[in-house]
This record gives sequence, C-alpha cells and structure tokens, in this order.
Amino acid sequence: MADRVNRRIVLKSRPAGVPAPADFELGEARVPEPGPGELLIRVIYASVDPAMKGWISTARNYSRPVNLGETMRAITVGEVVASNHPEFAEGDIVTGMPGWQEFALSDGTDVARKVDPAVAPISTALGVLGHTGLTAYFALLDIGRPEATDTVVVSTAAGAVGSVVGQIAKIKGCRTVGLTGSDEKAGFCLNDFGYDAAINYRAATDLGAALAEACPDGVDVYFDNVGGAIADAVLKHLAVGARIVVCGTAATASWDPPPQGPRLERQLLINRARMQGFLIFDYAERFPEGLAQLTAWVREGRIAYREDIVEGLENAPATLVGLYEGRNSGKQLIRVAPGPA
Ligand SMILES: NC(=O)c1ccc[n+]([C@@H]2O[C@H](COP(=O)([O-])OP(=O)(O)OC[C@H]3O[C@@H](n4cnc5c(N)ncnc54)[C@H](OP(=O)(O)O)[C@@H]3O)[C@@H](O)[C@H]2O)c1
Repeated sequence: MADRVNRRIVLKSRPAGVPAPADFELGEARVPEPGPGELLIRVIYASVDPAMKGWISTARNYSRPVNLGETMRAITVGEVVASNHPEFAEGDIVTGMPGWQEFALSDGTDVARKVDPAVAPISTALGVLGHTGLTAYFALLDIGRPEATDTVVVSTAAGAVGSVVGQIAKIKGCRTVGLTGSDEKAGFCLNDFGYDAAINYRAATDLGAALAEACPDGVDVYFDNVGGAIADAVLKHLAVGARIVVCGTAATASWDPPPQGPRLERQLLINRARMQGFLIFDYAERFPEGLAQLTAWVREGRIAYREDIVEGLENAPATLVGLYEGRNSGKQLIRVAPGPA
C-alpha cells in the first residue's frame, strides 16, 4: 500500500457563511501502513452533511473546528484492507469518522461500529441506518414525544432526517405535514414517505395560510431542521402543549452577527409549549436500540429511504454547497471507491 496515493479533501480557507468549493482543495499523501494495533480503512462512501458548515466555522459549537490544512471531517463507511488490530479483520465493513479521504489509518477507537452488509446496503449505515436515521428516531421519540392524535410538522421533510421523522410519526399514528423546497420533493413526501400533506415553502404565496389549512387543530410537534423564517411561520400555529424539536438550523447562513427574528416567548407561554435542542452524539449509548428498531422497520417495509449518490471524492465540496441550495434528493453521499453493495 505504501506506494499508493491517498487522495483527500482538506480545508483551505474558512468561509464566513455557506462554504464554496474554493474553500477546499484536493491533497495527496502516501497511503499509510498500519503499525501494531492499527488498521487501514478504504473508504467506500463518505457522508455530506448540513452540519459541516458548523464544523468548519470557529463560532462556538459542540465540537472543535476543523483546522486549515486538515482533512475535512466526515462520517464514512469503508472496508478494512489491512489490520494488526485484534478486533478487526481484513474485509470487515466499518463506519466511523475518517473524513473525506480514500484511506484512513485507525487504532480502532474512532470506529463507531462494524456494519453487516447482509442486513442492508452498506450506504444505509450513513443514512437511514446511521446518524440521520438515529437522529430522527431519538429526537422525535425522546423530545417530540408524539401521540396518536398529534399533528407533526417536519421541515426538510423529504431529506435524510426529515423523511424518517415523518414515517416514524406515521407509525405512531400521527397526522404528518411536510415542508420542503420543491414540488418534486413535496411529491416524494406524499408518495414515498406517507405524509398526509406537503407544502413547497418556496412556492407558497402565504406559508401561514398553507400551514393553517394543513394543521386545522394546530401543530403539536414541530420537528425543526431549519429555523429561520420557516420556523417563525410554524411557531404561530402551535397547539397547546406543543413540543418543538430543535434539530438543525439549515436556513441560517451565518451566526455572526446573529440573525434577528420575532420574539418566541409569547407563543411558548400561551401554548405552554416546550422547545428543546437535540444532539445525536448524546445518544451514543442507545444507538443499538435505535438501530435495531430502524432496521426492523426498514426490513418490514415500514420505512422507505432515498439516497443521492455522487461519484468521486473530488466532487464532495461542490456537493456540500448543493446541500445548502436544496439540490439533494435524499441522503447525500459521495461514492469514494467501489465496494460491496
Ligand atoms: N442535531 C443533530 O444531532 C443532527 C444530526 C443530523 C442532522 N441534523 C440536522 O438535520 C437537518 C437535516 O439534515 P439532513 O442530513 O437530513 O439533510 P437533508 O435534509 O437531506 O438536506 C438538507 C436540506 O436542507 C434544506 N435547506 C438547505 N438550505 C436551506 C435553507 N436556506 N432554508 C431552508 N432549507 C434549506 C434543503 O431541503 P428543502 O429543499 O426541503 O428545503 C436541503 O435538501 C440539518 O439541519 C442537519 O444539520 C442534526
């Protein structure tokens, strides 16, 4: 392996808001040889996540910023191609955080888990059976606490997290209303993900009126993946006792200076509503429980999923930019190398 080249995407400059492809560059290094207790992973799929904007910013966050010149942080699934580690063998499929690169050396501590390719395509370990599916599962059930008579509104409803939220809410017997950015994605919400209603917020001339029509009894659970003007509109329609799951802030390009918006206190007070932030990494100890349930639902055909797979590591930066323009249609992945399905 030592004579092979490892291509990787490194952070070149820090964007003020939404990143541009020019903020990244392709770097090359020798593929490392695993030493004692180490393994070498060949990345097959790499994830592209809205959270990456925060990971490369120096604004206060839940994790340290990626350094300039460092390989871009990313969750991946790949194959062990050499191992001197007692718990990993050549051919094992593993998921973890090696970043946007073709090969990664590991001492095993950064491997999140082994993936069984017999259960589902390995790409799902980054989506419906990975961090986005688990986010939907724990954030909706633990914070949203949906009940059978509830109306659940979901933003980025056709996306990786949102599509699973909508389907779990349906499994729990709720009425589901999806907000998304195109007619095509509104169609996915209705036809693929079983939403009772879907609103293209970009086309709606009056989002408030569209929400009032779709949620005649108010919004019991708002699963918020975007914040900003969309959240402002939904929060005017809360039902008494509503729960707001703050999962993502995709609509805000930069937190410096912080964007100004309507004050929420009155909506929370008069509706005795609860608004709570969520971070998937807090649930690591419960991942086996979430994965077992999600796997069962996928295998029973009760949860459908879409993946948007772009070929080639070199396309990762442009693909990330497209995510902030809503160009993805399902869980956004990069195929870095051929491998087992
Ligand atoms: N808290 C956690 O632990 C955690 C974990 C995973 C993900 N998340 C969050 O969950 C959210 C969804 O993530 P995902 O991986 O499932 O991505 P996704 O929904 O598959 O893709 C991102 C979507 O965001 C929407 N979007 C982009 N820019 C927007 C803007 N300016 N205004 C409104 N919507 C915009 C677009 O959907 P539309 O075209 O439908 O608008 C786009 O397709 C993100 O905010 C992410 O950060 C949080």
